[in-house]
Amino acid sequence: MLRSRSLCCILCSLIGLFLAWLLLVRAPQAGYAQGKPGPVSFINDVAPILKETCFACHDAKKRKGKFEMTSYANFRKGGSKDDPVTPGNARASLIIDMLTKSGPGRMPPPEAGNSLPKEKIDVIARWIQEGAKLDPGIDPKSDLMRELRIRWKPPEPYAAYPQPANINGLVFTPDSKKIVVGGHHEVMVYDAEQGKLEKRVATRSERAYTMLFLPDGKLAVAGGRPGQEGNVRIYNINAGNPKMLGGIPLIDGVNDRTVFLAELLDTDDTVFALAVSPDGKKLASGGIDRLVRVWDVSGGYDKAKLEHAFENHADWVFSVAFSPDGKRLVTASRDKTAKVWDLAAKESVLTFPDHQNSVYDAAITADGKTGISIADDKNVRFWQATDQAKQVGKQIRAAGGHAKGIFKIAYRNDPKNPLLATCSADGTVRLWNVNTGLALKILTGHTDWVYAVAISPDGKLVAGGSRNGEVRIWKTADGALVKAFNASPGYVPQVVKK
Ligand code: HEC
Repeated sequence: MLRSRSLCCILCSLIGLFLAWLLLVRAPQAGYAQGKPGPVSFINDVAPILKETCFACHDAKKRKGKFEMTSYANFRKGGSKDDPVTPGNARASLIIDMLTKSGPGRMPPPEAGNSLPKEKIDVIARWIQEGAKLDPGIDPKSDLMRELRIRWKPPEPYAAYPQPANINGLVFTPDSKKIVVGGHHEVMVYDAEQGKLEKRVATRSERAYTMLFLPDGKLAVAGGRPGQEGNVRIYNINAGNPKMLGGIPLIDGVNDRTVFLAELLDTDDTVFALAVSPDGKKLASGGIDRLVRVWDVSGGYDKAKLEHAFENHADWVFSVAFSPDGKRLVTASRDKTAKVWDLAAKESVLTFPDHQNSVYDAAITADGKTGISIADDKNVRFWQATDQAKQVGKQIRAAGGHAKGIFKIAYRNDPKNPLLATCSADGTVRLWNVNTGLALKILTGHTDWVYAVAISPDGKLVAGGSRNGEVRIWKTADGALVKAFNASPGYVPQVVKK
């Protein structure tokens, strides 16, 4: 009896030592807390693992097992069970048990993927062994997604692009002489006639999805880092102290507050859409969080007042546009609809469902009566935007022609000379007659999906930007090519045909 007990004790302590060795001594192989002496940090080492592998099911919306871990306080509160952590004792902690077991009850659940790599479990275990503390200076209730976002530092723009820039956004400057192109953690200013790169502006966002110039000449940009963050930021691209990068002036839109003027929105995922009201007093946005937000910026961008946060689309919002009178908004969504919103009534008053496919962009004509939308279904659809009694937009006309999905609309709201341009995965940009729905010009030459399209404020130029970095600029009058260039500084592109 005595003998077996002491044998058991020896065994136990051996196993204990082995576990301690596994958990504490064996250096993590890669990534989190690797080679870092001293304590494991919750925010720098543990939270990124939870965000990557657990937040998908344990955020404030899903709360699987009634367990929400997007703040330290909620994480320690536990779900239907108690605190998943026993400070100072990793082995006794529910979370370690769930991470290491095989079969049912494992986290992440076996049907959701592989178990967490051992070196990451070790990091969590070490943190628990060390007391499971939150780093000083962080409020236990604060949102961990946000805390992680704040700590993330964007990289500098590439001196030389290793691969072509994906061009998601384009906009002409107010004088129609230059074009601003969204690159990788930057926006680039090119001379529209020469195709010469004049200036680069570093941005926090990895991608710029929608850019527009405000009435005072400031540039508003909606973008983000897919799956990580999204924002709406206002820039003065004519300020700052340029340094040279590859012979081109680069200004700092990340830290220099004379360039980066204000942030209207900072959220968990990409913001795709941005619009300014005709009087310049309101800005609207839309993105992956499905919300359509409207701000009053008449008191200054840094005092922007959020007026509306509409939540009625069932999926990502890809675009927002104001009606010409500024009283309504039209939005396009991955939920396969376009919607018209009445800002005074604070609700959506009309839905256009006919695309039956992801709707990527929408606009309202200068007279306010007709909605125009485009989608993955290859059609430009024109519909009644005013028949509020039925609350369903009746289609007037569907215009085919694009051979693949259509990504964006550029619409110039001039009652005398309305211009409508579309860009598509079929590699073309098309100009349309808004009244007849007929294609006026088919602008070719892009060799990849054309993600972005823009019309110059004077109506004379139209530009397309594609997935392989190429920008092509044509005259709207006769479709003649003005310039083609690859907006990926330092990258050696394939020959761009002119
Ligand atoms: C695919 C969805 C999914 C993912 C990913 C996931 N979980 Fe879970 N989790 C669940 C579900 C479902 C439950 C409830 C299980 C039950 O009640 O039997 C749960 C329950 C839990 C519980 C128990 C909560 C309680 O108090 O009852 C813990 C702890 C937990 N998960 C931790 C994690 C950790 C840590 C990760 C990341 C490594 C993770 N989970 C990833 C779906 C998920």
